[in-house]
Amino acid sequence: MIKLAPSMLSADFSAFAADAARVERAGAQLLHMDIMDGHFVPNISFGPAVVKSLLGKTGLPFDVHLMIENADRFIPEFVTAQTEYIVVHEEACVQLGRTLDLIRDLGVKPGVALNPATPLCTLDCVLEDIDLVLIMTVNPGYSGQKFRPAGIEKVRRLAEIRGERGLSFQIETDGGVGLDNARTLAAAGVDIFVTGSSLFGAADAAEWVRAFRAAVEQQ
Ligand code: DX5
Ligand code: ZN
Repeated sequence: MIKLAPSMLSADFSAFAADAARVERAGAQLLHMDIMDGHFVPNISFGPAVVKSLLGKTGLPFDVHLMIENADRFIPEFVTAQTEYIVVHEEACVQLGRTLDLIRDLGVKPGVALNPATPLCTLDCVLEDIDLVLIMTVNPGYSGQKFRPAGIEKVRRLAEIRGERGLSFQIETDGGVGLDNARTLAAAGVDIFVTGSSLFGAADAAEWVRAFRAAVEQQ
């Protein structure tokens, strides 16, 4: 089943838990947490204390997207009873294999994100070791940016590679995703959709999710 992972970067920070509960009721499957350090990306978001503040406030598993340098140093702090995925950037990890081992040894599923300019071949040697590939369809740093359509072909090719190599990692897309491009992305092979401003900007989240489901499930 296609999963929806609302990006909490677009939530109301003064009502963080209430917004998490709201998107859960609306029909989300994961909560996407965008962690930004002001070095790897030109913005600072929130850290592990804020992620942990949602423990027990929602039943949804956490999908932690680390847009940070020195990921190895901070990864343990994002491991919680609700953390399902920790996703690091290929561009930010000098010894990617070591970082992925660290995540798995902590009992969490490892994922790798690629910026729009980073080719799929950079993952050739680690695809066997990961549970998720995140194809960025904006340059990370901010919500509300314009979708870069080059990501569609990347998703399509990645889904092919997954089939050729008999692997089962999830394909996730993040950045500028909304009701206008969800169907094309689903057809290309996306399993997990991150969405921030489109969902949180909707007057009625449940209505938005119904429209999203209708779009991605249309054949
Ligand atoms: C971008 C983040 C995204 C983003 C999603 O750096 O990783 O998760 O905030 O927001 P929208 O859907 O508004 O692009
Ligand atoms: Zn993200």
